[in-house]
Amino acid sequence: MAQQIENVGVLGAGLMGHGIAQVAAGAGYSVVLREVDEGTLQKGLGKIEKQLARAVEKGKSTQEEADVVRGRITGTIHYQDLADCDLVIEAITESLPLKLEMWREVDQIVKPQAVFATNTSSLAVIDQAAVTSRPGQFVGLHYFNPAQVMKLVEVVRCVTTDDEAFATALEFARSEGKLAIPTKDKAGFIVNRLLVPYMLDAIRAYEEGVGSVGEIDEAMKAGAGHPMGPLTLADFVGLDTLGSICDVLFDEFRERRFARPPTLRKMLSAGWFGRKSGKGFYDYSGDSPVENAGL
Ligand code: 3HC
Repeated sequence: MAQQIENVGVLGAGLMGHGIAQVAAGAGYSVVLREVDEGTLQKGLGKIEKQLARAVEKGKSTQEEADVVRGRITGTIHYQDLADCDLVIEAITESLPLKLEMWREVDQIVKPQAVFATNTSSLAVIDQAAVTSRPGQFVGLHYFNPAQVMKLVEVVRCVTTDDEAFATALEFARSEGKLAIPTKDKAGFIVNRLLVPYMLDAIRAYEEGVGSVGEIDEAMKAGAGHPMGPLTLADFVGLDTLGSICDVLFDEFRERRFARPPTLRKMLSAGWFGRKSGKGFYDYSGDSPVENAGL
């Protein structure tokens, strides 16, 4: 049987965390959103406020409704404020050492019956569960970017996850209006296992001169009905994130299809992380994106 959830903690207010917090608040949960410092926290809260304002402008919600959702989110820089949460979802940097350090601390603060979830894109869920005192109450809840829009949440069961925690996670994702798909703790789960090699192959196709950046993207939109071309999508996901996911997948499976293409490696050295850094396969400094002339 699923546990009752009222208070949700979200760790990290970045690209994924702010969206996960907004979705939970939109579904009626009381949310504590934690960041490392005040500046980063305010940036994340600002993104939520912008999205809520956009929905009001478009007539999708009233100002009152937006205010109620915003009012359910409390920002903090202290783990202590998560003590009373029933569910804690982490969406911090995709680094196992950082996540382990964070869980060791959070585990000592948050009430013992709470369920813990990681939004990891590719790291093994069990590695995080094992450093807590509650490996049975640990799951993966993998949201997709933008979390406010994408329908899917992969609900990941690791070898230690107990039935109650898994049912709680499934029920929670469904209560947010998401399509909750259960999956096993295998690197990349379902979507990234298939999507990451696709994006990497698009980079290789570009390297081989099959088409320009724009041509590859336009071809996949018009020819395969995708909402975004693969190189636009790579910029959107973040090239640093894509790089770290493919490294994890390559380490796990040792298959060429998961290896970092040289172009990606060089772009990361240049600090081109995609849309979030202003440059990736496209240059985002103007009114609309243009192909990155430096490539
Ligand atoms: N945050 C919140 N809402 C957003 C948003 C954002 N960043 N970007 C767009 N939206 C909302 C808009 O407000 C709009 O809402 P409305 O329908 O209520 O008005 C809706 O999304 C559609 O937006 P637009 O009309 O501006 O633009 P599009 O129709 O082109 O849709 C898109 C934008 C939804 C991002 C679409 O291009 C898309 O689906 N792209 C593919 C995204 C994708 O594949 N994501 C998965 C990435 S992989 C991943 O996340 C896994 C991770 O582990 C790496």
